[in-house]
Amino acid sequence: MAKTLIYAHRGASKLAPENTMTAFELAAAAGADGIETDVQLTKDHIPVLIHDENLRRTTNGTGFVQDNTYAELRLLDAGSWFNPKFSDSSIVSLDEFLDWFKDQPMFLNAELKTNVIEYKNIESIVYNSLKRAGVIDRTVISSFNADSITRMKNINPSIQTAFLTSTKMRNLAGYAKSLEADALHVKHRLLDKRLAKKCSKNKLDLRIYTVNRPSMMKKCFKLGIEGLITDVPHQALEYRALSQ
Ligand code: G3P
Ligand code: MG
Repeated sequence: MAKTLIYAHRGASKLAPENTMTAFELAAAAGADGIETDVQLTKDHIPVLIHDENLRRTTNGTGFVQDNTYAELRLLDAGSWFNPKFSDSSIVSLDEFLDWFKDQPMFLNAELKTNVIEYKNIESIVYNSLKRAGVIDRTVISSFNADSITRMKNINPSIQTAFLTSTKMRNLAGYAKSLEADALHVKHRLLDKRLAKKCSKNKLDLRIYTVNRPSMMKKCFKLGIEGLITDVPHQALEYRALSQ
């Protein structure tokens, strides 16, 4: 059985403010196999790594990402909300992140945050950045929005995509297949043996989020799930060393 890959959810987000370079660097230093990050678009169509559409929770700004230019967003403090010692952290653009990531021996899960706001052309903008950085073959694009998966596949049928969901559905694997997705990313409470079997029968990679509890990590390892997405990659790596 292949090892379950460990993806750092928004970077090592229990140790540093989520989706900042410090969180990504800590994930790499811990030895994570991959990084999961969230992509939204600025007013001037620059892809930036931030989870919420609104700036309130993770920066000292207000309003929406889409109403600010990248230059405006760069001035914000994206770290103090987590701990004042991270006050010099900024929102990172996808290109800035990729400039670092391209030299890291890791996988990337870029989650397109198109389930609330359907950012126009985000799929082609992100695709072009990934291509420029030369990381297409170690990236999986995921989204809660099925249309984003379809649009990505239309740009390049060979790019890996994943349908992302927290909703229980009767034939989830069949649905992901109908989108021509390569993987299914599901919330931890949807994981059971049946889903794991269905995915493997349909040749779909199954990845589980957000796996922070040791019992759930162990369940993923036992079922031989392809990947887990965790806020605590350093802990998941320790448990994997004991389990697999
Ligand atoms: O990609 C897995 C996970 O990040 C999806 O949920 O809200 O944490 O982006 P969320
Ligand atoms: Mg995410």
